[in-house]
Amino acid sequence: MKTPSPEVTKNVSLSRNSWPWWPLFPLYPYGKRSTLVKEIIPNQIWSFEQLQGLYYVAVPIRLTVVKVSGGLMLFNPLPPTAELCEALAQLEKKYGPVLTIVLPTASGLEHKISLPAMARAFPKAEVWVCPGQWSFPLTLPSGWLGIPWRPRTKILVKDGFPHKDSCSWISLGPIDIGLGSFQELACFHKPSGALMVTDSLVGISSEPPEIFDLDPTPLLFHARDRGDEPLEDSINARRKGWARLVLFASFLRPACLDIPPLKEVIRYSFSRGLRSSKAHFGVFPFAWKDDWQDAANELLGVREPLIQLAPVIERLVFPRAQMTFVNWLEELEKLNGINWLVSAHFSAPLVFNRSKLKRLKDDINKRPWAKSDGSWGFLGGLDESLLRLGVVPLNPTKSFKDQDLQV
Ligand SMILES: [Fe+2]
Repeated sequence: MKTPSPEVTKNVSLSRNSWPWWPLFPLYPYGKRSTLVKEIIPNQIWSFEQLQGLYYVAVPIRLTVVKVSGGLMLFNPLPPTAELCEALAQLEKKYGPVLTIVLPTASGLEHKISLPAMARAFPKAEVWVCPGQWSFPLTLPSGWLGIPWRPRTKILVKDGFPHKDSCSWISLGPIDIGLGSFQELACFHKPSGALMVTDSLVGISSEPPEIFDLDPTPLLFHARDRGDEPLEDSINARRKGWARLVLFASFLRPACLDIPPLKEVIRYSFSRGLRSSKAHFGVFPFAWKDDWQDAANELLGVREPLIQLAPVIERLVFPRAQMTFVNWLEELEKLNGINWLVSAHFSAPLVFNRSKLKRLKDDINKRPWAKSDGSWGFLGGLDESLLRLGVVPLNPTKSFKDQDLQV
């Protein structure tokens, strides 16, 4: 057989990763989404990871594929590139067809944006969505957003739950966050002992995720201290870049980061060797303070990923609803045989049993909740401003009676 030319190979690989709907939610890496597939619990659960972010602040986002009776469940859709669909087709051959696609979050736009394309890629699968779906600036009927209409699409809680023989479903929320509601349904898969969540819990390691091996540019870009420094690859540069990406993702604008004056940014831009879009032409509007690594260390697990509620979720979703989160952890403690946590972001699977859950709950009960000092300053200021303006409510746990999704 004739070997394809390097150009042909490149084109094939480009088209296998292409995601034509990226302008709907224009995040890095835009129209080219590589997928890292890993079997994380043998014959039971698979992780399909892509990268997603802003200005090279990219973190892994995960579709979790679960073996259920008679086939597969897709938990948290991802852009169904040809590469991703081919990997799913391999699993379907061995484990049965994709039976259900589940969108378990009401608010996570990054998870819902690819649901319509995923539903078209698997036209025989049932679609299940979290109640209380909303869009901004107008809440439109979900059918208008490309989500299939009833009866194909069903609403979790209201219409029951899929795969009840092997899965238990535990709701976190709804919480009123002003523009809409926050709610997510965690799924406990009894045969594997894995609890699947979306944004409510994450585990972050000091080692950069493996998906950056496909292209470490975001890590190397942020590992620098000035725009005229070249992007040089080393283990230390990758770790440094990763720690800074975690700070961005956790605090949006960490206190250990300064934005230098425009004059200074321009002075170090457009240096020789960096005049390319890959290097953003040397434009680097960041200046990290000396204590940035200390701030990052509080978020990073060294021996194993550190399981936590992401600061951005704690400070902007649950600032006045700590007990809702603690009560949810108590519901999780009742699950028999819980062994693993698989989140839609960062590391997975994470060892997660009752004693870890209890430690997490005790820590949350002991430590100050939803702070506004130090690294939390920007998030705290944002929430306080939104509260003052009446955009977010003082009491976010009011009951939601009319949260039905129109499908
Ligand atoms: Fe998310």
